[in-house]
Amino acid sequence: MAKIKLTAKVDSEILVVGLGLANKKLQIESGAAQLDSASLLATLNAMGATAKADEVIKLPGKATKLVVFTGLGEIKSSYDPEVLRRAAGAAARDLNGNKSATFSLPHKSVVELAAIAEGAALGAYTFVEFLGSSKQEQKAPLELITLISKFSDTAQAKTAIKRAEIIAEQTYLVRDLINTPPSHLTPDSFSQKMKKLATKYGVKAEIINDVTLKKSGYGGIIGVGQGSANPPRLFHVSYSPAKAKKRYAFVGKGITFDTGGLALKPANGMEAMKSDMSGAAAVIAAVFAIAQLKLPIAVDGWAPLAENMVSDNATRPSDVITIYGGKTVEVLNPDAEGRLVLADALIKAAEVGKRAGGLDGIIDVATLTGAQVVALGTRTSAVMTNNEEFSNQFLHAAQLAGEAFWPMPLPVELRASLDSPIADIANIGDRMGGMLVAGLFLKEFIDPQTPWLHLDIAGPAYNEKQPHGYTTVGGTGISLRSLVQLAELASSQA
Ligand code: BES
Ligand code: ZN
Ligand code: ZN
Repeated sequence: MAKIKLTAKVDSEILVVGLGLANKKLQIESGAAQLDSASLLATLNAMGATAKADEVIKLPGKATKLVVFTGLGEIKSSYDPEVLRRAAGAAARDLNGNKSATFSLPHKSVVELAAIAEGAALGAYTFVEFLGSSKQEQKAPLELITLISKFSDTAQAKTAIKRAEIIAEQTYLVRDLINTPPSHLTPDSFSQKMKKLATKYGVKAEIINDVTLKKSGYGGIIGVGQGSANPPRLFHVSYSPAKAKKRYAFVGKGITFDTGGLALKPANGMEAMKSDMSGAAAVIAAVFAIAQLKLPIAVDGWAPLAENMVSDNATRPSDVITIYGGKTVEVLNPDAEGRLVLADALIKAAEVGKRAGGLDGIIDVATLTGAQVVALGTRTSAVMTNNEEFSNQFLHAAQLAGEAFWPMPLPVELRASLDSPIADIANIGDRMGGMLVAGLFLKEFIDPQTPWLHLDIAGPAYNEKQPHGYTTVGGTGISLRSLVQLAELASSQA
């Protein structure tokens, strides 16, 4: 992963600067770096540069081999950090195959500098594991990102850079896990990989295997996983610093591949389903990041992992399963599997949280419904809750982190559609408002006293279209930054 360093002068052959518009005129925003602006502007005007977000233009420079202009839109006296994050990311994405680049983008605060560092590092991500060696070289991401800043010598800037590296490292992990094909990522291999990393980060980890899951009554995880030759797991990490100010549990949907089971998905709806473990990857990596940042917040991360396959042993539509703790579910649609594995894990997470003195919040993260994508599109995720205050706190964190989340209701009148004549609840209800129905299903497995958030990230977890800003193609890492930011906000509260 790219190293990030603060510097006082341009120290590589590539200089990245901003390009903005003031009164419809192009203007270079190069921060503290000196440039031959007049002649560069003449060229940019002649080329028809627009300075819009995601426009990246490379020109030969005088002092450096290349000057890279990244669009900032309207010139501002102070920029929204997300504008800077995206501009830095778009430039970094365009620099694959180069070793290093110096970024000199405008910023008035360390928060803005941190956004530039984060965006540059996130944009520099590539996934090359399954490419031949010559292609790997072509696509190799930047190894070194240097940043020119007037804050270079301050302790705050150094801390911000360290944090950006941690965020990037963990986002890379989430993206790698999502991008890894299901031939190479199973419930067991996910668990083994993450257990090794947990040791590296000094976080406790436990793998609950299929035999134990069955014996202990995890009917959701077993029911979803039983059609696969790759047996399910429940993976658990725990970071528990002394004198923790708060204790949270994060629970992420970990379907390593979702065929839909006997409600088989059509081929073109199935391709992207290696990303159905995005929630699990995000919550575990968030715990790692919180541990690396040494935040005074205790967090447990839970990843119920299963492969939803078709076989003579797969769960049939109309089968009844028993969730951990005893509630029965009539599985009318085996493609609504995420809620089943989450139900087991939510009950277990609450049980373990209670033993540790109670949870201040429980958050599940899941690529749960196609209805989420219909409602909010591919770049905005949904938040559902039983606690307005907790939700508002999260939305504030998401805003700071530059992740788009939007609050959604859990209308009581939809709950009846989940009634089953033969079990405590059915796994599907009204198709209309399907995202909310899924949220209402999960709510049945939440203690009403515990503040709870349900994040549906079905669309934003996986970018099947064009890259943009610091968002590359494939796994995005969505929700990791918001979860970490939430823990940071909680750390700084009394
Ligand atoms: N993993 C899917 C949801 C999904 C769809 C994620 C598109 C990302 C992109 C989930 O398991 C699923 O199939 N849900 C069903 C639920 C339905 C049967 C109630 C859906 O949304 O169609
Ligand atoms: Zn499904
Ligand atoms: Zn799924």
